[in-house]
Amino acid sequence: MAHIKFYSGEEVPLEMHKVRIVQKLSLPHIERRLEALNEAGNNTFLLKNTDIYLDMLTDSGVNAMSDKQLAAMMESDDSYAGSSTFTKLENKIRDIFGTDYFLPVHQGRAAENVLAKVFVRPGQVVPMNYHFTTTKAHICVNGGSVDEIIIDEGLEVTSSNPFKGNMDIAKLEAIIQKRGAENIAFVRVETGTNLIGGQPHSLENLRQVSNVCNKYGVLLVLDASLLADNLYFIKTREDACKQMSVREITRAIADLCDIIYFSARKLGCARGGGICTRSRDLFMKMRELVTLYEGFLTYGGMSVREIEAITVGLEETMDDDMISQGPQFIAYMVNELDRKGVPVITPPGGLGVHLDAKRFIPHVPQTEYSAGALASALFLVSGVRGMERGSVSEQRDDDGNEVYSNMELLRLAVPRRVFTMSQLKYAIDRIVWLYENRALIGGLKFVEEPKMLRFFFGKLAPTSDWQHKLVAKFRSDLGDSL
Ligand code: F0G
Repeated sequence: MAHIKFYSGEEVPLEMHKVRIVQKLSLPHIERRLEALNEAGNNTFLLKNTDIYLDMLTDSGVNAMSDKQLAAMMESDDSYAGSSTFTKLENKIRDIFGTDYFLPVHQGRAAENVLAKVFVRPGQVVPMNYHFTTTKAHICVNGGSVDEIIIDEGLEVTSSNPFKGNMDIAKLEAIIQKRGAENIAFVRVETGTNLIGGQPHSLENLRQVSNVCNKYGVLLVLDASLLADNLYFIKTREDACKQMSVREITRAIADLCDIIYFSARKLGCARGGGICTRSRDLFMKMRELVTLYEGFLTYGGMSVREIEAITVGLEETMDDDMISQGPQFIAYMVNELDRKGVPVITPPGGLGVHLDAKRFIPHVPQTEYSAGALASALFLVSGVRGMERGSVSEQRDDDGNEVYSNMELLRLAVPRRVFTMSQLKYAIDRIVWLYENRALIGGLKFVEEPKMLRFFFGKLAPTSDWQHKLVAKFRSDLGDSL
C-alpha cells in the first residue's frame, strides 16, 4: 500500500489513479433542495439525480471503472451459449478463489434467491454474523429464519475492536447443538458486514467458523460482496496476515468456504454477480435454477460487456493500491468528523461513513425515525444523498408493530475511485454545520407506508416545520451560498 508522508505532516490519503472520464454535477440551491425533498417524500431513494450533488446513497454499481475494464468491454464475445468472455471469467474465478464451478447471476440478490431456494427448508435457520436486507428477505420467503450471532462489540457504535464483523463462535456452536445440524440450512458469513457499518471479520474468525461447520457437517457460505474492503482490513489489521499478499489472503478465505457468492456491483467494480464452489454436487443442485431465473449458464442475466469488466475488476482487486483507496478515504472522513465531535461509527469500516443518529439527534426518538430525519436534513443542507439504515429499513411484525433497529445510522457510501478529496471536505464541512445546528432537526412520520421494503418506496413528512427553520438558519449563516 502506498504510504506517502506529507512534509507538512498532514495525513491525506493519496489517489493512486487519475481521472480520465468525468460527469458534470450540479448543486441546486437549498430552496430547490427543500422542494425536491418534499417531492421525494423525505425518502432519499426517491430523489432525482439532477437534484443531487454528491450521491453517497450506495457503492453498488457506481464504482469508477478502469481504462482496462472499459477496453475489455469492447472485446466481449456476444454469444448466447459458450461465450469465450464467460470462459475468461470462469478461469479468473478459478485462479483467484480456487473454485472449479461458477454460476453467473444478474446481481447479488439473484444469488441469494438461488441459494435460499436450493438450501432453505421451512423451519430451518441460517446463523450469520449479521443479516443484509435482501438476504434475510430471501431466507424468510422460503420459510427459514435468520439468527444473528455477531460478537457483542459488533453492535457497539464506538469501539476500538478492529474486527467488529466477527461471528461469536460459542453462540454458533450453541445454535447448532440446540437446533440440530439438520435444521441449519447453512451458516453465512458476510464479509465487510454492511449493516453494522462495513465492519470486517478476521481470517482467524472465519477459520474458527469453518472448523465448527466442518465438525457438524454444515455448509459455510460466504457473501463476498464487500470482500475488497475486508481484504484491506485483514492485510492492515491482522498481525498474522501482514506479510501475506492480497491474493494469498483471498485464497485462504476461499479455501475455508463451501460456497462464495457476490454482487459484482461491488466486488469487481462492474455489475452482475456469481456463485462459486469447489463442489460439483453443490453446483449441480443450483444449476437448474440459474437457467430458470437468470439466463443460460454462460451469461446468467449479465451483459457480456459487464462479464469482461468483472474479470478485469476481480484481477484489479488483487492490487493493494486499488483496495486501499476506499477504506483510506473513509478513514479520513471518519477521523475528521470524530475529531470535530460528530458521532460516527468507529473504527472506520469499508463501504462508507456511518453517522450515528441516536447520538447526533438524541432528541428525535426512534418512533420518529431519527436516521431518516438525519438523511433528510443532510440532503437539505448539502445536496449530499445518504441512505437511511435504521428503523425505516426494518419492516413491521405480523401484528403490525414497529420493529426498531439496533442502530439508527445514516450511511454515506464512498464509491470506489469516484469522489475527490475536496468533495469529501465539502461533505465534512456541511455535516459539521448540521451537527452544530442539530437542535433544529425534527422527526418524520409515514404518510405512505408499503408493507414490504418500505424504505424503497415509502413516503414520509416532517412532524413540524423544522425543515423551513433549518433553511432559514442556513441562509443566515452561509448567506447566498448554494
Ligand atoms: N450482500 C451484500 C453484503 C450487499 O451489500 C448487497 C447489496 C447484496 C448482497 C445484494 O446485492 O444489490 O447486487 O443484489 N448492497 C447494496 C447496498 C444494495 O447499497 O448496500 P445486489
